[in-house]
Amino acid sequence: MDKFIVSARKYRPQTFDTVVGQSHITTTLKNAIRHQQLAHAFLFCGPRGVGKTTCARILAKTINCENQTKEGEACDKCQSCTSFNDSASMNYFELDAASNNSVDNIRDLVDQVRFVPQTGKYKVYVIYEVHMLSSSAFNAFLKTLEEPSTLCHLYPGYYGKTQNSSYYPQSLPDF
Ligand SMILES: Nc1ncnc2c1ncn2[C@@H]1O[C@H](COP(=O)(O)OP(=O)(O)OP(=O)(O)O)[C@@H](O)[C@H]1O
Ligand SMILES: [Mg+2]
Ligand SMILES: [Zn+2]
Repeated sequence: MDKFIVSARKYRPQTFDTVVGQSHITTTLKNAIRHQQLAHAFLFCGPRGVGKTTCARILAKTINCENQTKEGEACDKCQSCTSFNDSASMNYFELDAASNNSVDNIRDLVDQVRFVPQTGKYKVYVIYEVHMLSSSAFNAFLKTLEEPSTLCHLYPGYYGKTQNSSYYPQSLPDF
């Protein structure tokens, strides 16, 4: 069973350069990493299956990499990169706002975000379907969105406090 990997994981790009298309996003992210001008929250918008989760994971891995390349890519070999590739990083969290949309869910998150990472550089929180948060939950979240060390992966509906990225569907020739 160890050898069985679902295709969505097997073929998921592991570096920005292997993401097909979306270069307006991957280049921007790489430049921000290279110049150490990374926003602390990002809003990734776009239709299904265009690379939002993929890019969020690459971004999380890259900013935690111990030997980033000068192009702003992860080395994919250091201990941090390896733990990301094995889905074993202690610095990566995913929350589905569709089923965790209450103020209490967000308070739990806000409580966690306050602690610095025990290993590595950044804790990264990816929040799916962020438009599903109740308005009181989103209000409870606003202050955290303005603070460093949070990376949010948000869906359409909430703009303003984050750096926004729009993903386009890719045509077959790009692949
Ligand atoms: N731009 C891309 N380049 C290469 N592979 C891609 C790209 N976009 C999606 N994929 C592949 O398609 C699968 C789904 O991509 P991903 O999970 O990133 O989509 P998503 O935008 O998060 O979709 P959803 O809205 O359903 O969450 C992954 O296996 C990924 O490798
Ligand atoms: Mg996704
Ligand atoms: Zn690395």
